[in-house]
Amino acid sequence: MLTIEPMGQGLGALVTGLDLAQSLSPADFAAVLAGIARHGVLCFPGQHLDPAEQAAFSRLFGTLEVHVSGAFQVPGQPDVMILSNMTADGKPVGLPDAGQDWHTDMSFSRTIAFLNVNYILTVPRRNGVALGDTLFADMAAAYDALPASVQARLRGRTATHDFAKFWDMMRARAGAGSVRAPLTEAQRRTKPPVSHPVVMIHPLSGRKVLYANPGYTVRIDGLPAAESDELLAFLFEHQTRPEFRYAHHWTENDLLVWDNIRTLHNAVADYGPDEHRYMRRCQAMADRVFDPGWSGMRDASIPGAAGDPTARSCRPSAEDPE
Ligand code: OGA
Ligand code: MN
Repeated sequence: MLTIEPMGQGLGALVTGLDLAQSLSPADFAAVLAGIARHGVLCFPGQHLDPAEQAAFSRLFGTLEVHVSGAFQVPGQPDVMILSNMTADGKPVGLPDAGQDWHTDMSFSRTIAFLNVNYILTVPRRNGVALGDTLFADMAAAYDALPASVQARLRGRTATHDFAKFWDMMRARAGAGSVRAPLTEAQRRTKPPVSHPVVMIHPLSGRKVLYANPGYTVRIDGLPAAESDELLAFLFEHQTRPEFRYAHHWTENDLLVWDNIRTLHNAVADYGPDEHRYMRRCQAMADRVFDPGWSGMRDASIPGAAGDPTARSCRPSAEDPE
C-alpha cells in the first residue's frame, strides 16, 4: 500500500509501498503527482533500479534532458548522468562538484525543468555519519513571505538566466584542477541566456512561486543594472533563509524526486575525496506539466513510455495579470 508521510512542516515526504522499477498504475502515478504538488520533494527509500528503469520512471513526468556538457553520461543512456567524486583508472567517473551552491536545475533553458530524479548508490560517511546532504528551499513559502512592496516590484517582471554563470563560478572556485572544461562557443550557443517570469503560478498547486536563483539568474529584465543587482541580492538572501529549508540526509538506494519549479537546492560538499558518493540523475523537462489537463496518467500504464510525441511545449505561465 502506498503511503506518503510528510517529513516536516514544509518540503519533503517519505513514500513507501511502491517499486519504481515496475510500471506504475494510473492511481499510483496520480498519488505521486499529488505528493509532488503538496510536498515538493519526495523520497522513495530502498529502490533498486538500473539506469534504463530510472529513465523510464523519470520520463513519465516530461521529456528527459540530455545535459549540455555531454560529460559523465551512462554509456548508451545519455539522459542519465553520473554525479560522483569516485575515480576509475585515475579518471573521474562522474561530475564531482554538481550543484554545490544554491541553484535551480535548468532555469537557464528555454524549456525549464520540472522534476529531478536522483538515485544514490553510495553515500559518503565519516565515523558512521552520513555526509553530502542536499538542501532544498521552498519558493512557494519564500514568495508568500516577501514584503508586499517587493511582490509589487516583481509583478509582471521577467529575469534572465544564464547557464555560464554557475559553470564559470564552479570552474573559478575549483581552480586549475577543475574537471569542468571551459564552455565552447557551440555549448554557449546551445544554451544562450533566456528570460522567464520571476513569479510563476505553479501548474500543479496553483500557488505563486518565486522563480529566480543565485546559481543562474543574472538580471531582472527592464530595470537599470544597479536596481536589478540590488533586487537580486535581496531575493538571493531572502530565498535561502533557513526557515524555507529542508535538508535531505541520504541513505543508499534512496530515490529522491524534486520539483524544480517550486524549489532551489544546494549539494553540501562536506566530504573528502576518499569519502565516496555516487548518484545517477535524470531531469524531466517542464514540457508537459504546464499543459492544461496534463496528468501523465495515460503514459503511466505503459512501461517505459516515451510520452506523447505530439505533446506541445508550453511556456511557463506568469502570475495572473492584476
Ligand atoms: C543535481 C544536483 C545535488 C546533489 O543533481 O542537480 O544539484 O546532492 N545535485 O548531488
Ligand atoms: Mn542541481
